[in-house]
Amino acid sequence: MKQLICVIGNKGGTGKTSISHMLCHGLGLLGRHSISILTDVEREPLSRSGRHYTTLDGRSPEKLEKILEKLVSMPDWLGVIDGGGNRPDMDKHLYELGGLVLLPFRDSHEDMRTVLRDLDRFPNALGIPSQWPTNTWQQMAAERTLDEVMQAYRPRLLDPVYSVSASKLLLQSEVPSILPTMLNNVSRRLARQLLDRLGLPYTPDDD
Ligand SMILES: Nc1ncnc2c1ncn2[C@@H]1O[C@H](COP(=O)(O)OP(=O)(O)O)[C@@H](O)[C@H]1O
Ligand SMILES: [Mg+2]
Repeated sequence: MKQLICVIGNKGGTGKTSISHMLCHGLGLLGRHSISILTDVEREPLSRSGRHYTTLDGRSPEKLEKILEKLVSMPDWLGVIDGGGNRPDMDKHLYELGGLVLLPFRDSHEDMRTVLRDLDRFPNALGIPSQWPTNTWQQMAAERTLDEVMQAYRPRLLDPVYSVSASKLLLQSEVPSILPTMLNNVSRRLARQLLDRLGLPYTPDDD
């Protein structure tokens, strides 16, 4: 499904849930409708109230199938699936469904080693550096680690999603009515690069 973006990967804590919400938030800021679809059975659904996007519970296979059927009938909408960690079979299923598949990883050898396995397993998926340092020296060190561990995979890596502490506000049940500019900027940047990949237009919007 071209209109479906799946955020998966075997390791927990890499930023799947945060990236899926930041992406939907950014899409909303760029004037695109989206649904954040929860599939992680370990998490509770979040309220839709105050968000620039819809949230739906796809934790059971039946519910997920209904949501995807509905999505097909709304071709202008995008769906973003938040996978859960440690579910190789579910990841495979979501990989096959997704028009774009993202594998987040943090600035650590351990995350990179895990994501390398996922990148090999899912040859069309893209790696996305997550919780990436904003400090120049730390960024240089992170780039060096990428060169050491993942140089051959560089063409399959998206631009990083920077560490922004306000990202946790999107994971609250109800989001505050005004969100920090930094969070909006990081979210828009993420949404723009994915819309570009999908060849979809968006309302220009300055940071
Ligand atoms: N870009 C980010 N900036 C700052 N903190 C982040 C970012 N992405 C994730 N986090 C934090 O890292 C932790 C794990 O993120 P989460 O999205 O829940 O990962 P996953 O869904 O892969 O388990 C959470 O505490 C979350 O708030
Ligand atoms: Mg999660």
